[in-house]
Amino acid sequence: MKPAVFKDKVVLITGASSGIGRALAMAFSVQGAQVALVARTEAHLRDVEQQLTALPGRRLVIPADVRNPQQVEHVVQTVMEQFKRVDVLVNNAGKGYCGELADMTAADMYDLFETNFFGPFHFYRSVVPHMIQRRSGLIIQVSSVSGFCAVPLGGAYCATKFALEAMSDSARLELQSHNIRVLVVRPGVTNTSFFDHAKNFRVRNPFSLSRMMSPDTVARQVVQAAASGRRECVLTAEAKISYWLKRIAPRLLDHIIIRYVKPRPTAPAR
Ligand SMILES: NC(=O)c1ccc[n+]([C@@H]2O[C@H](COP(=O)([O-])OP(=O)(O)OC[C@H]3O[C@@H](n4cnc5c(N)ncnc54)[C@H](OP(=O)(O)O)[C@@H]3O)[C@@H](O)[C@H]2O)c1
Repeated sequence: MKPAVFKDKVVLITGASSGIGRALAMAFSVQGAQVALVARTEAHLRDVEQQLTALPGRRLVIPADVRNPQQVEHVVQTVMEQFKRVDVLVNNAGKGYCGELADMTAADMYDLFETNFFGPFHFYRSVVPHMIQRRSGLIIQVSSVSGFCAVPLGGAYCATKFALEAMSDSARLELQSHNIRVLVVRPGVTNTSFFDHAKNFRVRNPFSLSRMMSPDTVARQVVQAAASGRRECVLTAEAKISYWLKRIAPRLLDHIIIRYVKPRPTAPAR
């Protein structure tokens, strides 16, 4: 990676209190970026801020719920007041849900969409006008392998990530003439608290958790993809194979998924 591409850049990261978001806050801070840390739990954000004190750049802690457009607007206003701009928006906050579509409540489905789709949408609407004014910006959308490959028991989560990807593709086309880039990143199964925060995962987890990416590896690859001007990336070898099979041999991929993805009632503790 080119040295310190993000030095002094203002990076707003949602879901920065845990897992991939926390690792991204670290990776951007190592580069000397000014980082705004957003999540609901202030105490966890303060812990992250504390862990980053030795690194260059400033940090700003702003507790907020991405589902709430007023709170999102407040976050963006605060960042504009303190840092004067947003160079990079990382829409990372998200959560999972495990279960058959027919069994889930509409309330659970709305909640998942509010977090995984409307959260990024609210941030997009608040940040993009400032980026357009400056004719500069990068939006990083943290999707998933589930953003292009739907699996049993993951229909709701996959739906939110497919929607996020569709929004991102339109955004890329709409923003190109304003010199604003959109990067979609798709981590594979990653060793974070995601599986504890996701409804039903510990009881009906459909994935093998034996080979997980570390959040630091995910963050390093995301920052690298952002620095080299990529528009999308898939972060694991298995996921890259699925990505191409989906296009050239979808029936074969269905067959593999049905064999591989099945309820595993007692997922190994991390
Ligand atoms: N882990 C994986 O295997 C994996 C794989 C592919 C993609 N992803 C994606 O990566 C992203 C990060 O996941 P992770 O693995 O790092 O999970 P995580 O450890 O559970 O972290 C989720 C983060 O999102 C925040 N968050 C959740 N709901 C929020 C809300 N309503 N408002 C504001 N912040 C909220 C959480 O903080 P608070 O609870 O304090 O708000 C936390 O900081 C998600 O979009 C996920 O879909 C994860």
